Amino acid sequence: MNRTLLIVKPDGVERGLVGEVLARLERKGLRLVVGRLEVIPRDLAAAHYAEHQGKPFYDDLLAFITRSPAFVAVVEGPKDTWRILRTLMGPTNPAEAPPGTIRGDLATETAENLVHGSDSAEAAAREIALFFPQLA
Ligand code: CMP
Repeated sequence: MNRTLLIVKPDGVERGLVGEVLARLERKGLRLVVGRLEVIPRDLAAAHYAEHQGKPFYDDLLAFITRSPAFVAVVEGPKDTWRILRTLMGPTNPAEAPPGTIRGDLATETAENLVHGSDSAEAAAREIALFFPQLA
């Protein structure tokens, strides 16, 4: 099986949308391998978002992702799981996300766009190892 990292971000947990997100993934045919609700530690958030360090939105991004519990999970499917999840999520900017996608149906702002999914097979392996070292 082929795995990727999913985060239902603090806005999604605050709005009670964890079940809605998981239901969409499960209906598509992806399966939850492991998941936990946690306030992401700042050092883990910084490692996860290392590629964005120095960008204008970086400080706000770290404050947002650590402000309250997120649901962090590994999901799996037969192949291309990271790509399937990204398609279900829709584009980063919810204003560009088509109806039918998670962000298209449920979000309005780039900074609070509900979900994270790894953006390549390499990123999936790196991010799973960061959040769930026991699975790496
Ligand atoms: P995500 O795909 O989880 O990873 C990087 C995040 O940075 C992205 O979701 C957005 O939440 C956030 N992001 C990207 N671009 C911007 C931006 N221009 N302004 C604010 N946040 C951004």
